Amino acid sequence: MKTDTAQAVYLKDYCAPDYLISTVHLDVKLAPAATHVTSTLTIQPNGNIGKNYRPLILDGEEIKLDSLCLNGEVLGSDDYIVDENSLIIATVPQEEFTVEIKTTCNPAANTALSGLYRSSKTYCTQCEAEGFRRITYFPDRPDVLAVFTVRIEGSTVETPVLLSNGNPVESGKLNANRHFAIWHDPHPKPSYLFALVAGNLGVVSDHFTTQSGGDIELKIFVEPGNEDRCDYAMGALKRSMKWDEERFAREYDLDIFMIVAVSDFNMGAMENKGLNIFNDKFILARPDTATDADYANIESIIAHEYFHNWTGNRITCRDWFQLCLKEGLTVFRDQEFSADMRSRTVERIADVKRLRAQQFPEDAGPLAHPVQPESYIEINNFYTATVYEKGAELVRMLLTLLGPDTFRKAMDLYFLRHDGEAATVEDFIRVMEDAGGIDLTQFRIWYQQAGTPELTVNGRYDRHRRTYTLAVSQHCAPSPGQLRKHPYHIPLRIGLVDKCGEDMKLELDGKPAGDDLVLNIREHEHRFCFTNVAHRPYASILRSFSAPVKLTTNATRSDLLFLMQHDSDLFNRWECAQTYATRLLTDATVSGELNEVKSAVFGQALGKLFDDETLEPAFIAQMLTLPGESDLAREMINNVDPSAIYRSRLGLRKNIAANLKENFRHILKTVRLSGAYSPDAIDAGKRSLRNSALGFLAVLEDTSTLDLLKQQYMNADNMTDVMAVLSILTQTDLPLRDELLDDFYSRWKHDHLVVDKWLMLNALAPFEATVGHVAGLMNHPAFSLKNLNKVRALIGTFASANPVAFNHPSGAGYDLVSDTILKLDKINPQVAARLTGVFKSWRALESGRRDKSQLALQRLVDSENLSRDTLEIAVKSLD
Ligand code: BES
Ligand code: ZN
Repeated sequence: MKTDTAQAVYLKDYCAPDYLISTVHLDVKLAPAATHVTSTLTIQPNGNIGKNYRPLILDGEEIKLDSLCLNGEVLGSDDYIVDENSLIIATVPQEEFTVEIKTTCNPAANTALSGLYRSSKTYCTQCEAEGFRRITYFPDRPDVLAVFTVRIEGSTVETPVLLSNGNPVESGKLNANRHFAIWHDPHPKPSYLFALVAGNLGVVSDHFTTQSGGDIELKIFVEPGNEDRCDYAMGALKRSMKWDEERFAREYDLDIFMIVAVSDFNMGAMENKGLNIFNDKFILARPDTATDADYANIESIIAHEYFHNWTGNRITCRDWFQLCLKEGLTVFRDQEFSADMRSRTVERIADVKRLRAQQFPEDAGPLAHPVQPESYIEINNFYTATVYEKGAELVRMLLTLLGPDTFRKAMDLYFLRHDGEAATVEDFIRVMEDAGGIDLTQFRIWYQQAGTPELTVNGRYDRHRRTYTLAVSQHCAPSPGQLRKHPYHIPLRIGLVDKCGEDMKLELDGKPAGDDLVLNIREHEHRFCFTNVAHRPYASILRSFSAPVKLTTNATRSDLLFLMQHDSDLFNRWECAQTYATRLLTDATVSGELNEVKSAVFGQALGKLFDDETLEPAFIAQMLTLPGESDLAREMINNVDPSAIYRSRLGLRKNIAANLKENFRHILKTVRLSGAYSPDAIDAGKRSLRNSALGFLAVLEDTSTLDLLKQQYMNADNMTDVMAVLSILTQTDLPLRDELLDDFYSRWKHDHLVVDKWLMLNALAPFEATVGHVAGLMNHPAFSLKNLNKVRALIGTFASANPVAFNHPSGAGYDLVSDTILKLDKINPQVAARLTGVFKSWRALESGRRDKSQLALQRLVDSENLSRDTLEIAVKSLD
């Protein structure tokens, strides 16, 4: 295997650093092609090294060493070794010493967007995970924490704004149109949290007063002209700061908090201390340019990065095997924040959908790995749905096991015990054990074993004994490198619903057990006997999705229909609708025929929801959303034919539309929005229900609906309603589709974020001809391989959200994507590797497509000079 040449890193090999760094002084003289960096480090041997003398090894990549001093003495070329990845000084003092390193880097040539690079004319940095070594030589690992002082010097014309972490100390003018600024961050931090931004940026300012009365300056920096799109982000930031104080007693700890939005960024956003850097699509929003979904994303990503200040920055990770310690925990925190800001149920549904769409396939395929992996080749490939989304679910299960009050005490203890440290997952679990007074030995398996456990729950009512018995069993299929699995500790939340739709008072083996119970599943098999049960109950299993498992129950179709109407757990009402539709659609896909009767019954059950005034519109909209094509493909397990799945799903949509068309028309007449656009959850929910109704009506393709679509497009005062029309039309080949898409492009071609939406719409058309169309768009002036947001919008969307076209039976979709990966790999390996992940479920396809996608992957592996990043994903995918 080709990856044999690339060295894997193992958790078991972790060693504490030989040398620690107490202070870093960076002096950065900015110039596009040759930025000069002087780094002065105060270094101490870590503990008593004694006789086992060790050299000083610093990481460095793509930088040129200009000079090197130790304790003020210039070192000659015999005193050190420089190679492609490091700088080694063989002999250093065994007490505190200083090193001064002068290097040069080339931000203008940095298309990998790791280290110091330029986005438009702005200089900015991305150092996580291992980008700091592309700026200067340094022990670039998260367990070396230092206090940074940074002096930046640049042109007053090109870079009037000069930013780094911490608080501003000094700034001033220099000769020849140059100026400088000095920043000091008093909190010791690892190098991956370093950031520098310099450019001609507009700013929006505000203030936040902390619980203890501190006044914090808030600033959002954007390209000049975009200042009018920052209000929502600023509000979201203030809500995040307040929420972390109220929910977790966490206050902010510097005088200033800054966010910078740039248009070239490998990821969504980054939590650099006091200076978060964002992909601008997650900051900029105005009603006419951003959708409700964009607003919700902005709110949650701002929160996520802000929350890292405590879970990630103050308590950081000892090494990258601990990544879920900060990412899983912080995703959990941002999910809780969004649940509090919006609707808890709708948030939970969205989170579970994301987990299933992104993490379940990862866990079921060749790239499966534990939440805490044991080895990696390229760390950037391990910022995965497993580490993030499943990692968050593990924290949520701890909350369930401890209960809210104890969980909060445990979090307090975590912050108290580990503040200022580079901690481990083990530290976190031990805190949970100590504060919770429970033994989590078995729970740790969740962090170590890959794969999604399958839970089977069968209920049986015994009329004579008046008992209801639940037989529960768990199983986890083998995953790469892990053939036999130990049983998990699974918190299983359940309730039994009576025939009036009320939760029964539960009695387990004769003892009262409340009405909403968490069962501890620890064995392969369990049997729970509920006593004194007056009649056959409806079992509500895995309430609020209390564990990240695949559930199979013996619920009948009529049980599902009943619970869809009556379960007190709203998440499970949604889940029952999904299960019903999934059974219907997988049957239809296999048989080629949709069962009209069962479809009509399902439609009627959905129709009844419209009469329930206690339900939020956003929730009803979720109930109306059928499982996606990829969700269905996952259920079919193998021999997947994406076109057949598409046809049956469209068939059910048509059936529901025909049966409920009066209800949908009624929704459009009665669910009304008044006043100016607001992105709040209530209004957004109303819009999503209206647009869902419109989408159903549109599959009937009658002229009155076409008029409605056109009217909405013309009259809308917000992007949500415009995009809804275009998304609906994208699913059709009506002439109106091209007419409005063309109009949309000509209206918005000057706006890069809206152009991304146009590219996405084009990529989503569920027709075989879309492959050629997308290939053509790669030559359109709106597209550029050099702008990652464009690549993600067109090619990323095509490959991950358009199963019909991507899986074109000829293999043309696979070839288009692999050609793009090869080109992109030369520009930006991290993003190319991420795109390669779209092939992860190729083995589940029917044989024709399977062979063709395998060939496309093989072509990647066989190509010359593929990056380590992309090679790792491609090789593992083929294994
Ligand atoms: N620390 C990450 C950003 C990051 C990811 C840096 C990968 C280097 C490599 C940041 O906190 C993050 O998780 N960002 C997410 C968005 C978040 C809301 C889940 C992202 O960028 O996708
Ligand atoms: Zn994060």
